[in-house]
Amino acid sequence: MHLKIAIQKSGRLNEDSVALLKKAGISIPKSLGNLVTEASNFPLTLLFLRDDDIPEYVAEGIADIGIVGENEVLEKRKAIKVVRRLGFSKCRMSLAVPKNEQYEGLAFFHGKKIATSYPNVLDDFLKAKQIEAEIHEIGGSVEIAPTIGSAHAIFDIVSTGSTLISNGLREVEVVLKSEALMVANPYLGERQQQLLEELLFRVEAVHKAETNKYILLNAPNEKLPQIIEMLPGMKSPTVLPLALEGWSSVHTVVPENEFWQRIDQLKQLGAQGILVVPIEKMII
Ligand code: PRP
Ligand code: ZN
Repeated sequence: MHLKIAIQKSGRLNEDSVALLKKAGISIPKSLGNLVTEASNFPLTLLFLRDDDIPEYVAEGIADIGIVGENEVLEKRKAIKVVRRLGFSKCRMSLAVPKNEQYEGLAFFHGKKIATSYPNVLDDFLKAKQIEAEIHEIGGSVEIAPTIGSAHAIFDIVSTGSTLISNGLREVEVVLKSEALMVANPYLGERQQQLLEELLFRVEAVHKAETNKYILLNAPNEKLPQIIEMLPGMKSPTVLPLALEGWSSVHTVVPENEFWQRIDQLKQLGAQGILVVPIEKMII
């Protein structure tokens, strides 16, 4: 039996979701507008859906799991489990007003009409801030509402901000931040659960590989103890003698951000010929 995964049919999330599955070693045949397809080397069936519908399909068990934005998960309030935050397709959910509007704080929204496709998230926020505003729910093209006079402001997702700019709007409040999540039906069968765990294991290996780097450097032998102390490896670094007397080559794996914090100290200790190499998969 296959694991059924729902991913976005088209849009940013689609590209990032397909890229993640590919990095996890799953081959997805080029589908020519097909909304259902099967991976060729993993028991996975892909359902291409509108992101807005994914929480419901997963809650109903039509898909076992899904990759969807946190924005949709929060809005749809379906009985689904978040199994992993994926860290991509990041965006903000923000309030925006016409750019020439005087704005001095949330009180602006009292008595105003706000257009959005996220009425639940907006309602929670307005209640928490004790703002009484009218929520005008629309399915899409929210950004044109102020221009056509159907609302005073909007609440929508913002990524680069270019949609706001091209519609003469200004982001004034970030209500929350969102990223892609892997979600699952809470009542998966044993086989489905097993396949999900296998998939998560691969996703974890991809994530570790992306945040770690393989480092090679040359160091004078007398400084090796200090250099090794600064470079904790997966277990401990590999040290190989160089042909040049008194020098060694040190190989290790470190989180990339930590590495950049230590680069100056490493150079001061005499490290030379430093190579930072990407890792494809990492399993500890
Ligand atoms: C979102 C949102 C805006 C746009 C913002 O739509 O509704 O239109 O992206 O992005 P920007 O800040 O980079 O311009 P999306 O394409 O995700 O589609 P959807 O809301 O219809 O699912
Ligand atoms: Zn959508």
